[in-house]
Amino acid sequence: MKKILILNGPNINMLGIREPELYGKQDFKSLITYCERVCAENGFEMESYQSNHEGDLVDKIQDCYGKIDGIVFNPAAYTHTSVAILDAVKAVSIPTIEVHLTDVNSRDEFRKISYIREACAATFAGDGFGSYRKAIEKLKEMLG
Ligand code: DQA
Repeated sequence: MKKILILNGPNINMLGIREPELYGKQDFKSLITYCERVCAENGFEMESYQSNHEGDLVDKIQDCYGKIDGIVFNPAAYTHTSVAILDAVKAVSIPTIEVHLTDVNSRDEFRKISYIREACAATFAGDGFGSYRKAIEKLKEMLG
């Protein structure tokens, strides 16, 4: 069975509390339960990791080498700032899909910049939890 990692960056653990008008009322645990269901539907084993720290995310991506077949990644604010995370994704060469709950292209100018995008096979944004579904289905398409 192929194994995928659902990887979330800073403040995603605050879902439900954080700006609910933007990010919705469902909490982080609901997101992970949702992803578990979609992974099961697509025949994937799933692992989940969330951190508020850039270096922890880099360590986790490095740790995936040889262990994980695909990554669904919401780097949150680090999307718009982190060369270290881009380099980590490039280093491991694991198929990675960028996801965002909100439509990052129709918000602040600085959210239109994504450092990680060039290392990702696709980006899904603006569909709430559905962005994660699309990413998991894309990995299914890619990994078989
Ligand atoms: C986000 C969008 C980012 O701009 C923001 O910093 C986040 C969440 C999203 O899922 O919509 O923390 O990645």
